[in-house]
Amino acid sequence: MGHCCSLFLLSCLLWSFFIAGTHQLQSSQTQVLLQIRKHLEYPSQLEIWNNHGMDLCYLSPSTKVNMTCQNSVVTELRIVGDKPAKVNNFVGFAIPNQTLSGSFSLDSFVTTLARLTSLRVLSLVSLGIWGPLPDKIHRLSSLKYLDLSSNNLFGSIPPKISTMVNLQTLNLDNNFFNGTVPNWFDSLSNLTILSIKSNQLKGTFPSSIQRVTTLTDLILSGNDLSGKLPNLDRLSKLNVLDLSGNSLDSDLPSMPKGLVMAFLSNNSLSGEIPRQYSQLSQLQHFDISFNKLSGKLPAFLLSLPNISHLNVASNMLTGSLPGHLNCGSKLQFVDISNNRLTGGLPYCLSTESGNGVVKFGGNCLSVDLHHQRAESSCVPVKRKPSGEKNIAVLVGVIAGVFVIIALLACGLLMVCKICCPRGISEQHLLHKAEQEKSVTGFSSGILSNARYISEAENWGIHGLPACRSFTVEELKEATNNFSNSAILGDGSHGKLYKGTLENGTQVAIRCIPSSKKYSMRNLKLRLDLLAKLRHPHLVCLLGHCIDGGEQDYTVNKVFLVYECVSNGNFRAYLSGNFRTNF
Ligand SMILES: *[C@@H]1O[C@H](CO)[C@@H](O)[C@H](O)[C@H]1NC(C)=O
Ligand SMILES: *[C@@H]1O[C@H](CO)[C@@H](O)[C@H](O)[C@H]1NC(C)=O
Ligand SMILES: *[C@@H]1O[C@H](CO)[C@@H](O)[C@H](O)[C@H]1NC(C)=O
Ligand SMILES: *[C@@H]1O[C@H](CO)[C@@H](O)[C@H](O)[C@H]1NC(C)=O
Ligand SMILES: *[C@@H]1O[C@H](CO)[C@@H](O)[C@H](O)[C@H]1NC(C)=O
Ligand SMILES: *[C@@H]1O[C@H](CO)[C@@H](O)[C@H](O)[C@H]1NC(C)=O
Repeated sequence: MGHCCSLFLLSCLLWSFFIAGTHQLQSSQTQVLLQIRKHLEYPSQLEIWNNHGMDLCYLSPSTKVNMTCQNSVVTELRIVGDKPAKVNNFVGFAIPNQTLSGSFSLDSFVTTLARLTSLRVLSLVSLGIWGPLPDKIHRLSSLKYLDLSSNNLFGSIPPKISTMVNLQTLNLDNNFFNGTVPNWFDSLSNLTILSIKSNQLKGTFPSSIQRVTTLTDLILSGNDLSGKLPNLDRLSKLNVLDLSGNSLDSDLPSMPKGLVMAFLSNNSLSGEIPRQYSQLSQLQHFDISFNKLSGKLPAFLLSLPNISHLNVASNMLTGSLPGHLNCGSKLQFVDISNNRLTGGLPYCLSTESGNGVVKFGGNCLSVDLHHQRAESSCVPVKRKPSGEKNIAVLVGVIAGVFVIIALLACGLLMVCKICCPRGISEQHLLHKAEQEKSVTGFSSGILSNARYISEAENWGIHGLPACRSFTVEELKEATNNFSNSAILGDGSHGKLYKGTLENGTQVAIRCIPSSKKYSMRNLKLRLDLLAKLRHPHLVCLLGHCIDGGEQDYTVNKVFLVYECVSNGNFRAYLSGNFRTNF
């Protein structure tokens, strides 16, 4: 009797288990999923859905596909495809094998998706989805998490997303969104992660973001944002701020005290590093490299309690760091190179103390002189107010000084050639070159080319071709598309190529990489000056080529084309030590 009872109970239990276990996904939801698979052109990741007998909710999660169901409906759907993250030549149309086919319609795909009305998590990554994202995406109003990264979405970010108030994470990284950056983020009152990196969004930093105080991660790098940054200290929960690789030309804003990582490199940020940053006690990773920041490098940055990675390279920071500075105990990487710092290196950054990486070349520090610049190039220069008259006067003065110095240098050179033993006053002459640099604002690398000693003394001043501007195509032709075999030398001031012009002239071409320091107009002015520097003992500038956009301040590369002289450079000649590394 007792046996019978427990057997009955057991079978009851089993039965209820079975019922719960086959809690079927609504067949309409299954239909939607199968349609989604069709829209996505049957990616191999979804082959597991072929097993029709099986409830799709109970397939085991994989690294490529996850699905969660509740009460017979799908609540979470994550699919990671294998299409390339960003197709190079995408211009808004399907590309075979790289995007979904030309018959894919993002609009009807989203219509289908929107039938999964209970979705809280949707992640469709690297699936080759292409097209402008339709406004109706907002029908997925329960979404807390939306990730459509690494597809080929373009156009504007749909304004209706602002009505998806449950959103906590919005990730649209690595797409082709090319409208203006939206300014309605304050409608998303629970947003914690906003990530739209590597798109082509234009416009100014959206001021509404200041009011999204729930944000922990704000990532807008690799777009084309310009203009000023508002103060961000109201974003009290912000941990990660990434605005690198834009065109922001603001001062540095004040930052929330809890900030852990700040990436602001590759913009045109200017002004000084705010004192307020001394309060960033949680800061671990701070990168403001490749900007136009000036003023003193504050020592407190190196002493922040949690700092481990500090990069301030390639700015115009001045001043010196105290020798007895206490570096933060977690400091692993410091890059202060290519600034205008003077004095010594703090003991805590020297090689004897610790195992981290420290880069400090391209300054005027009193250590490792080989990689430092001359003192004179680190004296802060006050900008002259511009205006046509001022420029004319300035050009006159510069040209005058330049010619005098050039003549002096040549005179000295000839005296040296005649009567000095080799290797005498390298320091002296180099110093002179550096002085000229501070006058012209040009780096010694450019001027050093003008000092290649010409053997062809019969190149009379009158016989020289006029300085002209070359096109990038001409230079590509001359150097066999800048092939490696054409490289004569490679230095901190860019690569030097040997080439042959169409008319057979042998030339040396110096390629100077993007230097945001020069405006187009300034640059042309200076190039013209260089071209005027003509003397039998000086290599002459045949011409130049500026590779850049049409606007001012968008010079990508500058090429200087010199007559080619095969005897090495001036310094090498003087020191009797033929090297070509400038
Ligand atoms: C699915 O979930 C597992 C563990 O829960 C995770 O490791 C995996 O990355 C997820 N896959 C996707 C596509 O999100
Ligand atoms: C955005 O990109 C698409 C596709 O490349 C293009 O057709 C459209 O003109 C672009 N829109 C803007 C505003 O640049
Ligand atoms: C696409 O890929 C498949 C298999 O990888 C290949 O057979 C086919 O030729 C490719 N098509 C194109 C247009 O590249
Ligand atoms: C935002 O989050 C809070 C707490 O997590 C919750 O109470 C509130 O309902 C959420 N608001 C919206 C619009 O989802
Ligand atoms: C910034 O520019 C440098 C040099 O141009 C480049 O090496 C680096 O990858 C860029 N970084 C970002 C985040 O764009
Ligand atoms: C910063 O350092 C303190 C003390 O070492 C530590 O308690 C804290 O968790 C650190 N902050 C972060 C963001 O790691």
